Amino acid sequence: MRKPIIAGNWKMNNGIEETSHFFNSIKEKSIPPGLEVVVCPPFTSLYIADKLSDGSSIKLGAQDVYWEISGAFTGEISPIMLRELGCKFVIIGHSERRGYFGETDEIVNKKILASINNGLIPIICVGENLTQRENGETDSFIKHQVEKALKDLEENSVEKVVIAYEPLWAIGTGKTADAEEANRVIGLIRNTVKQIYSEKTAETVRVLYGGSVKPENIKQFMSQPEIDGVLVGGASLKPEVFWEIIEASKQLL
Ligand code: PGA
Repeated sequence: MRKPIIAGNWKMNNGIEETSHFFNSIKEKSIPPGLEVVVCPPFTSLYIADKLSDGSSIKLGAQDVYWEISGAFTGEISPIMLRELGCKFVIIGHSERRGYFGETDEIVNKKILASINNGLIPIICVGENLTQRENGETDSFIKHQVEKALKDLEENSVEKVVIAYEPLWAIGTGKTADAEEANRVIGLIRNTVKQIYSEKTAETVRVLYGGSVKPENIKQFMSQPEIDGVLVGGASLKPEVFWEIIEASKQLL
């Protein structure tokens, strides 16, 4: 059984004050044991998030990482540093990083390898843009992105990774992918893992949906057989809204 994940990607939002408010508001609540809840604050809020989530079962993730351990890489953050801040997860290859910061499939792959080698679980983002979707290129593009991301990963490492299918046209737009269609593409991602590795590994990897997920539509996605959870942007920023998503997901366990 794959344990579903509800992950929040705060992007460049929630400084120290909002982060303190967020964790203080939800620290008394108990996370349903059948769910894994991950919050990914900006780097500067990780320290306080780690302190305030101590004793709760909320796990922390970062939104990016560099692939070296230390050295002259001005402005970068290493996987070891993230571990020190209590991170268990790290989002890699989000479409905003690929689009605004020029991250290529090769860079994404290096970051994934470095994360795994240093004990972080990567949440690897893939997704097609609107033109690719309209041209019928979704399946081939997603397959290609998954193959490139997993290059040189050992089978026993792949079992631990999380993949997030986030169609670019659904991120922050209020437009969601149709839940059946998201389920189909996620099935294709699982099938790609099966082709590279094995059926057993494909059945272990957790694949999430992301793109305009909110309390009103969460159940549609969580009830699909291939969808193992969600990566939530805007609706993860406020504790009460994020909690509604967790509560609704709990009802489907
Ligand atoms: P959104 O963002 O939920 O605000 O659409 C999702 C994401 O980018 O991970």
